[in-house]
Amino acid sequence: MCGIIGYIGKKNIVDVLISGLKKLEYRGYDSSGIAILKENKIIRHRSVGKISQMEASLPSEFKNLSSKDDCIGIAHTRWATHGKPSEENAHPHIDCTKSFVLVHNGIIENYFELKTKLKKHKFLSDTDTEVIVHLIEENYNGSLIEAVKKTLKLLEGSYAFVLLSKYDPKKLFFARKDSPLIIGLAEDEKLIASDVTAMLEYTNKFIFLENEDFGEVSAKDIKIFNLKRDSIQQRPITLVNWSAQMAEKSGFKHFMLKEIYEQPQVLRENITSRVFGEDIIFDDELKFKKDLLKKIEKILIIGCGTSYHAGLVCKYFFENILKIPTEVDIASEFRYRNPILKNNTLAIFISQSGETADTLASLRLIKRYKLPTLGICNVVGSSLYREADSTIYIRCGPEIGVASTKAFTGQLISLYLFGLYLAKIKKTTSHQRYIELLNSLYKTPTYIENILSDTSFLKHLAELFYSKKDFLYLARGINYPVALEGALKLKEISYIHAEGYPAGEMKHGPIALIDKDMPVVIIATKGALLQKVFSNLEEVKSRDAKVIALTNYGVESKSIDYKIILPETDELISPILNVVPLQLLAYYIADILGCDIDQPRNLAKSVTVE
Ligand code: F6R
Repeated sequence: MCGIIGYIGKKNIVDVLISGLKKLEYRGYDSSGIAILKENKIIRHRSVGKISQMEASLPSEFKNLSSKDDCIGIAHTRWATHGKPSEENAHPHIDCTKSFVLVHNGIIENYFELKTKLKKHKFLSDTDTEVIVHLIEENYNGSLIEAVKKTLKLLEGSYAFVLLSKYDPKKLFFARKDSPLIIGLAEDEKLIASDVTAMLEYTNKFIFLENEDFGEVSAKDIKIFNLKRDSIQQRPITLVNWSAQMAEKSGFKHFMLKEIYEQPQVLRENITSRVFGEDIIFDDELKFKKDLLKKIEKILIIGCGTSYHAGLVCKYFFENILKIPTEVDIASEFRYRNPILKNNTLAIFISQSGETADTLASLRLIKRYKLPTLGICNVVGSSLYREADSTIYIRCGPEIGVASTKAFTGQLISLYLFGLYLAKIKKTTSHQRYIELLNSLYKTPTYIENILSDTSFLKHLAELFYSKKDFLYLARGINYPVALEGALKLKEISYIHAEGYPAGEMKHGPIALIDKDMPVVIIATKGALLQKVFSNLEEVKSRDAKVIALTNYGVESKSIDYKIILPETDELISPILNVVPLQLLAYYIADILGCDIDQPRNLAKSVTVE
């Protein structure tokens, strides 16, 4: 949700913090702030709105920094939870004596109770965060690390925070629980941030902090402690082979468009690194013994938003090729519904960020039942990766646009490969069918390149329909979740109301919405249910709706007003292609409307709070 960065080193502190914050802006963008030490005094600046607004309004004391001490600071980009977006509520927050300043991501659930106990302290914001900095002030008795430790013992909820104090001006203090925090290692300088993308410009070496880690970092040294253990903790250094350029727009107008165009390359990378001849190989990322996999009788898939939609597609795929029941749940529902869990169930958790609070809570719940857990994740070293028994990385590179695109197709391709791998082990699909599906998967990157090579018709459709208030997306079978995903893309980036529906269910309610002003996007690519889709198409057309159909050459119907022709592929593989024009249609409509496509209102990329 929020983004944190801290730096200690020799570079211009304001430049490092502002450029890092810009990389983190996708995590929250309603207000931001920065605090540095200048001549051993904390100076702070905060502003509502985008980081560029905060940067433009920086007072002169943040400029022309010359002293060698001016190289330590912290900064924050906020997505409001407690307290509306305002300058007072923006981080960093400072204590009464102006000696401690802190940035925080997460939610302190018992902040109200703690606040009432801190009667002597003057609170200046409505945030839960402010309570932490006053507690540090209260608990400080000459040792900052002790003050941090004492404070952590009082906190309930989730936190990742970085603290700066004039009492120890060459160190940053940090702690994390259920919100990500990563230390970036470079020679004679250190960074600490919510996400590696903010640090890639300076280093590829990272330490991913564990839950309940806390500690201190100076330009040359790091000390990590853990609330549950007494000694200093050793944490592995992870090399992340993403480059700083991967987190740039590279000439595209928006990250979302760039990421849509990256899909062929992402899928190709996934296939070529895992498919060798007729074999699918998951090296050491898949830690399950084949005997365990052979015994799997049920699959449970959990995720949120787009990741949930990827899970729904896989339900159809897995049930078809594995012949075992596959249940898909929204994480925020699953974690509270006392699920009935049986042995020999494999639980799969899909999350681009690997930090989604509800998905992680569901994972922790399943782990209590001792079922095998598999993460499907993009962000290297994320909490999902560290907590699941095994994790398959979807290898998409950083996804910066808030609307997920390449992660969706990356999740699908990784899960499809895993499904085929499992089908081979469990012998649930004939060799011929296995090869057919593998061949079809091989062709998907080229087919997507084909779709992306000429988008003029999609732009034309966007021109025709951008002023509409409501859209309906319909499909059947394995493409029904793609209808949900198409509608989600449109609503989140263009703010146009859109609903995805199973085409056969439409006459049980949504048909009442249809009139001449309602564009209906229908997925009518070749497959077993095409004739059924046609019947639904007639129902829509006879209510005068404008019908936009995703279809293939040779599919004819007078009821289609606008045809988006796609390469023909196996029906089971078709969702990977069908979603691409829907991503683009949403993008072009939002672009005409002048929406803030990469950072839509009210959304955040990584939903680390419940
Ligand atoms: C939609 C979107 C969200 C995420 C959801 C889960 O475009 O991006 O719906 O899919 O917040 O996020 P992850 O996959 O990081 O768990």
